Amino acid sequence: MAVTSCSALLLFGATGDLSRRMLLPSLFALHEDDLIAPDLRIIGTARSNLDDAGFRAFAKAALDEFLPADRKDPARLAGFFDRLAYQPLDASDLDGFAALAAKLGDTSAGLAIFLSTAPALFEATIAGLRHAGLAHDNVRIGLEKPLGNDLASSARINDAVAAGFAERQIFRIDHYLGKETVQNLIAMRFGNALFEPLWNAAHIDHVQITVSETVGLEGRKGFYDDTGALRDMVQNHMLQLLALTAMEPPGDYDATSIRDEKVKLLRALRRVAPAEMVRGQYRAGAVGGQAVTGYDDDLGRASDTETFVSIKAHIDNWRWQGVPFYLRHGKRLAERRSEIVIHFKDVPHNIFADRGGRTRANRLVIRLQPEEYVRLQVMAKQPGLDRGGIVLREVNLDLSLTTAFAKARRRIAYERLLLDLIEGEQTLFVRRDEVEAQWQWIDAIRAVWANGTDEIKPYTAGGWGPNAAIALTERDGRSWND
Ligand code: BG6
Repeated sequence: MAVTSCSALLLFGATGDLSRRMLLPSLFALHEDDLIAPDLRIIGTARSNLDDAGFRAFAKAALDEFLPADRKDPARLAGFFDRLAYQPLDASDLDGFAALAAKLGDTSAGLAIFLSTAPALFEATIAGLRHAGLAHDNVRIGLEKPLGNDLASSARINDAVAAGFAERQIFRIDHYLGKETVQNLIAMRFGNALFEPLWNAAHIDHVQITVSETVGLEGRKGFYDDTGALRDMVQNHMLQLLALTAMEPPGDYDATSIRDEKVKLLRALRRVAPAEMVRGQYRAGAVGGQAVTGYDDDLGRASDTETFVSIKAHIDNWRWQGVPFYLRHGKRLAERRSEIVIHFKDVPHNIFADRGGRTRANRLVIRLQPEEYVRLQVMAKQPGLDRGGIVLREVNLDLSLTTAFAKARRRIAYERLLLDLIEGEQTLFVRRDEVEAQWQWIDAIRAVWANGTDEIKPYTAGGWGPNAAIALTERDGRSWND
């Protein structure tokens, strides 16, 4: 990997929520572990009229709130605050960018920019950066989601960014790719000889991908109601999980090889038939023993935005012919859980049948969060003399990643992604052709919904979504891994 570090990091949207919760704590972690150069400056910018001291106070409050107590070493914190500076900017005012450039000084040694602002501001921001000479060859730019809300708007954003930067300079963030366990999926598939020979339609019956959340709207009413579950989570995170699970083996662990394989896979996704998708919206219920209100009440008005979606997806290539991938995501579900479950086919012939022994197909459960484990469910004989017949039971071969790597601190996804951006490592960022393949598939689903034939199904908060989602697997003789 070619590491070419930058001399400054410029954060747009520096006083926003993502900055407070994720970016500043992540940057502090990189500073704390000496992973960024001592002279790397971090310049925040946003509309708020702060000066350097004001931004440092903002960062201090954020770290006070979001860092664990044992990581608040005053000397380390002071060193971090020294890196910070701030320049107020209204991105729609082209001339304001000159002051920003002056604040940055000489950026010829490398500048990393992170845009975590509303995408509506992207175009003006890129124009401003170009105007002020901040879009030269040695600049790279990270873009936070949402990158559009359909293929056309995403293409517009991508075109606007491409007017200032080449694809090799553009780092589209999908924070799921920064998660350790998601990268571990690649390690598991391609670092072991064991799984790959079985990883196809000859041996796998179906795959389930669940990303369930217990939270509801979380103060993002406007954004969420305009977006909905399909675009908020399936278009990006879940399709990335699907692509990493199902892609062909890449030739190398590098940005081109991995992204080439993901895009091939995403392009092989079949259009979803209306009967193979379910959208739902939560009603009042109880989550974790706490009564919660329904979506309409949370929003303050009636809405037909989905907070749940379930899809039976098909991949039209040789490897996956006839293997459905059931996807499920929703807010206010029974528990917070992200997992991929590979359901293998049952044995071709049960030699224990005459003695009463029943086999069950093997399952590989890859739990990404909140726990991190890989669990292979295999059949074993129950101990005994078997006079009454052979009893086979499913037992778990468990690999807890938390225990196996107990000493390694779990890093939040943005630590890795920010460091990769600063160092110019693109593997874990999404390429334009991937984003567009994702949107193409999602737009076709939304076109079916727009026909109005597929109505939204209510579900009680705290459960596993509408009955129709359960029926999606049950009618195929399969069950969700609940
Ligand atoms: C974000 C979505 O991209 O991912 C949120 O906008 C969602 O709605 C979040 O809650 C989930 O991320 P994580 O890392 O908590 O699984």
